[in-house]
Amino acid sequence: MAPVLALDKQAIRRRFERAADAYDTFNVIQREMADLLVEQVEREPHAILELGCGTGYLTALLHKRFPRAEIEAVDFAPAMIARARRRVPGARFVVCDIEELEPEREGYDLIASSATVQWLAEPELTLSRLANSLEIDGELQLTTFGPRTFCELDEVLGELGCERGLHLLSAREWETLLAGAGLHRIRAHSCEERFSYPDCAAFLRSVKSSGAGYAPRVTAPGTLAKAIRRYDERFSDGAGVTVTYEIVTLSGER
Ligand SMILES: C[S@@+](CC[C@H](N)C(=O)[O-])C[C@H]1O[C@@H](n2cnc3c(N)ncnc32)[C@H](O)[C@@H]1O
Repeated sequence: MAPVLALDKQAIRRRFERAADAYDTFNVIQREMADLLVEQVEREPHAILELGCGTGYLTALLHKRFPRAEIEAVDFAPAMIARARRRVPGARFVVCDIEELEPEREGYDLIASSATVQWLAEPELTLSRLANSLEIDGELQLTTFGPRTFCELDEVLGELGCERGLHLLSAREWETLLAGAGLHRIRAHSCEERFSYPDCAAFLRSVKSSGAGYAPRVTAPGTLAKAIRRYDERFSDGAGVTVTYEIVTLSGER
């Protein structure tokens, strides 16, 4: 059955809206993911639909690589869109929930989305619907975070009886989901990257500042402080603490 994920969309939108000004300072991993995505595009597109454009980093890369392509970029946080519009004035921007988007046209030959589809409540249904606006053989190119992302935090929270607030799908689960959405020639790849932050509090601040601050479901008071202490003790290498990110890259064709 197609997964439906329990997400508070309004809270997610508010967090990204608040994060818009600081986002470009903290989006180191997201920039890397967008760089990977652009390299993956196989054929020169004429019409691109971008989902979750944020401040327009990927929009700008797509515009640079395919200057003749029309780009329509969607995000539900107006402050993010305002920044993206300044960055890529030639693109068309739509403030809208991706899951409610009615594409203005058919015949996109590329749908691209970086570091965003993990925030969809019904990813299979949504991607299946949007893929219908792709030309036959048009490409879907995605990047997202895999379930090993923040595994260190999961470990300490788990020991204290709490859960992280976001369920991330694996590359294999995404592969199945894209097949369920009617796509062909699906490719899924996953790799891990380790980042260093001065300490756990700095890591959590940086996640929050990028808008992705999904709060762990903490039960007892003081639990988060305990988790932070454990993290610092266990995952410090002297210079800082380690944080794992799992990057999943996905592609398919209509
Ligand atoms: C982590 S940011 C990635 C932004 C950009 N793609 C990048 O790589 O820098 C995720 C973006 O997706 C947007 N977003 C998340 N869920 C969305 C939804 N359901 N509809 C529209 N935008 C959404 C957020 O507002 C945010 O700007």
